[in-house]
Formats: sequence, C-alpha cells, structure tokens
Amino acid sequence: MRIKQLFDLTGKVAIVTGASKGIGESIARGLGEFGATVVVSSRKQAAVEEVAKQLKQDGINAVGIECHVGHTDQCKNLIDQTAAQFGRVDILVNNAGTNPYFGALEAMPMEAYQKTMDVNLKSAIELSNFAHPVMKQNGGGKIIHISSIEGHHASMNMAAYNISKAGLLMLTKNQAVEWAKDNIRVNAICPGYVETKMTKYFRENEEINKTFNNKIIMGRMALPDEMAGLAVLLASDASSYMTGESILNDGGLMQAQFM
Ligand SMILES: NC(=O)c1ccc[n+]([C@@H]2O[C@H](COP(=O)([O-])OP(=O)(O)OC[C@H]3O[C@@H](n4cnc5c(N)ncnc54)[C@H](OP(=O)(O)O)[C@@H]3O)[C@@H](O)[C@H]2O)c1
Repeated sequence: MRIKQLFDLTGKVAIVTGASKGIGESIARGLGEFGATVVVSSRKQAAVEEVAKQLKQDGINAVGIECHVGHTDQCKNLIDQTAAQFGRVDILVNNAGTNPYFGALEAMPMEAYQKTMDVNLKSAIELSNFAHPVMKQNGGGKIIHISSIEGHHASMNMAAYNISKAGLLMLTKNQAVEWAKDNIRVNAICPGYVETKMTKYFRENEEINKTFNNKIIMGRMALPDEMAGLAVLLASDASSYMTGESILNDGGLMQAQFM
C-alpha cells in the first residue's frame, strides 16, 4: 500500500471555488472521496449548501461557503472562514470562471474584459495570496488552477477569456518558483471541452457540436468527472515532485488541431 497511500487526502482541508456545478462540483467530490474535508464554494449559498448536503450523504465531510471570487472581501472571507472552522487550508482549487463576451476583439466592451480578468485571473492571485500564510503555517499546501486549452492557443471571439487562461499558466509558474520554499506546490489543469453549462450553447447547436467533436481526436467532449482524477493527483502526495506544471486534459484536441 506504499504508493496507493500517497493519494490519501484524509485530514486535509480543500477549498474548491465554482463548485456548485460542473467541473468544480466533480473535483469537490473527487477530493472528498479521497478523504479531504471539502469547502464547496460559489456565488450562491443555497447552491453550495445543496452540493455539500449531497456530499455529506455520501460520507464526505463538506460545508458550503458563498464567495463571489470577483470580490476581494469575499475571497478573504472564504479563506478566513475555512481557517477559523477547520484550522487549516491544505488544497485550494481555483476553478470559478466566466466568459461574458463572445465576439470580435475590436468590439469587446472593456467592462466585459475586466470582469473576465477579475473572475478568472485576479481571483486566483488573491485567493492564493490569502491562503499562502495559512498553508505556510501548516507546513505547506497545493494550489490547482483550472486554466484551459484556450490558455495555450488563440481562438476566434474569445480574446479576454483566452488571455485570462494564459495568465493562469504563468501565475502557476511564478507561484511555483516563489513558494517552493514554503512547500507549496502549484499546478494547472487545462481542460478541453467539457459537458457543462459553459458549453451548453455549443452542444445544443448541432453544427457547432459536430465541428467540435470532429476536432477532438477522441471524438467527444469530456464529462466533468473526467477532470476530477487529475485534481486528486495534483492535490495529493502522489504528485509530490510536480510543481509549476500545466496539464492538458482534452481528449487529444491540442494534438490534432492543425491536421
Ligand atoms: N466546460 C469547459 O469546456 C471548460 C473548458 C476549459 C476550462 N473550463 C474552466 O473550468 C472552470 C469551470 O467551468 P465549468 O465548465 O464547470 O462551468 P459551469 O458548469 O458553468 O460552472 C461554473 C461554476 O462557477 C461558479 N461561478 C461562476 N461565476 C462565479 C464567480 N464570480 N464567483 C464564484 N463562483 C462563480 C458557478 O456557480 P454559481 O452560479 O453558483 O456562482 C459554477 O459553480 C472554469 O474556470 C472554466 O473556464 C471549462
């Protein structure tokens, strides 16, 4: 059991933002099933409490704490409340994300740009900075950013989103460099297309859906649960030598896009 035990998260406390549904919910469940106490967070208290309730029914220790990650005071409150309630923060998954504007770069409203950067990137910096001293005090921690394939390549009509996701990749590297001394490892997951609310519009349009699936060498989008195992790996000692890395989890999409 020497290697298997490395995946064990018993005694660890994990915060997952944007966990009321989609990828975040699956990651929260995954971390919880491997033994972590999970703080399920999103903008809506009722929604996170509902997810926490379901997790508890499955034997996972979970609570819901509301946090709009675009607001600094709420980010601080999320970390403070978790530390006050559980005495530690071992794992932070910066998953909450948004894409309010789909359209030409030259017509992009700056409010939409700013909102995208605040929710997708600034929040990851702030939450990590608030969590850093708490992690350090307890001997270390793991931070996981949910970036995207869109952080690796350019695409039409999604400039602000893509810029924010690319920013997360460099944040991952800088945090890894600065915080290795504090035993904090930082890695990123770059999902391809996942069947969540965020991709509902694409999936409901038969033509777009077909185009997407044709580009993916596995021929289909991912299910949210297919992101959770990688998060467990990065949150656990099974990845103890990994930091500053970003991992594609995209059904081979990025390998085939130029074919
Ligand atoms: N789906 C994909 O194909 C895909 C691909 C690559 C990367 N990603 C990334 O994966 C992450 C999760 O996306 P998803 O597809 O699972 O989306 P989703 O199903 O739409 O879920 C988004 C989650 O984020 C929460 N949220 C939205 N805005 C928030 C805010 N300002 N503060 C706090 N929570 C907020 C939502 O809950 P409330 O409404 O309750 O706040 C929800 O729990 C995002 O960062 C996204 O960019 C997704």
